[in-house]
Amino acid sequence: MVVDERMRSYYDARAPEYDDWWHGTGRFAARDRPGWEPDVHALLAAVAGLPPAHQLDVACGTAFLTRHLLGRVVAIDQSPAMVAVAAARLPHAEVVQGEAVPLPFGDDAFDRVITGHFYGHLLEAERAAFLAEARRVAPELVVIDSARGPDGEGEAWQERVLGDGSRHTVYKRWFTPGALLEELGGGQVLHAGPWFVMARSPRA
Ligand SMILES: C[S@@+](CC[C@H](N)C(=O)[O-])C[C@H]1O[C@@H](n2cnc3c(N)ncnc32)[C@H](O)[C@@H]1O
Repeated sequence: MVVDERMRSYYDARAPEYDDWWHGTGRFAARDRPGWEPDVHALLAAVAGLPPAHQLDVACGTAFLTRHLLGRVVAIDQSPAMVAVAAARLPHAEVVQGEAVPLPFGDDAFDRVITGHFYGHLLEAERAAFLAEARRVAPELVVIDSARGPDGEGEAWQERVLGDGSRHTVYKRWFTPGALLEELGGGQVLHAGPWFVMARSPRA
């Protein structure tokens, strides 16, 4: 597919240090992120509060969010390094290395697709293809992504530096709850905090 190659190689390289972003450790220790920790906890509570289901986490990364899902969980990510971390964390789930588009699953194979901090990395030309795949494999889609503050930018090409000094260019967006719901075609906001937004959208 479709998904920008730079994003893919960046996340594979970032896997060993990815959770520093969640925990505020390593390169993120010096960042001033007011309200980050309570918002992470509220987001995790919202994820854990989803009704148990047969669900697929697309672009699961290190499974920081995935491990809070209830029910029969399958997780997929394109990065071998992310999949290794996720598989160690999810002994009772199936963790697959593979692509988001096309998803290697049949029509209606799941009750729900969930995806965190992936949709907002997709370029405009990539979004419809991903949404069509998510809608094909499950009747419900839950999207978690970065919240857009009142003065925050909506999108950016960012230069990111990893611990080994390597530099990477990544496209990223931030969402208001309303804008995210509109893109998904309607649904319900499950979490709207200063850092994260989470929306559930049924298939039309
Ligand atoms: C920002 S991380 C999100 C990880 C996790 N969902 C979270 O919220 O912490 C984005 C993830 O998307 C994965 N990814 C990028 N392109 C992909 C693709 N085409 N198919 C599947 N996964 C992909 C990356 O490997 C990376 O793990």
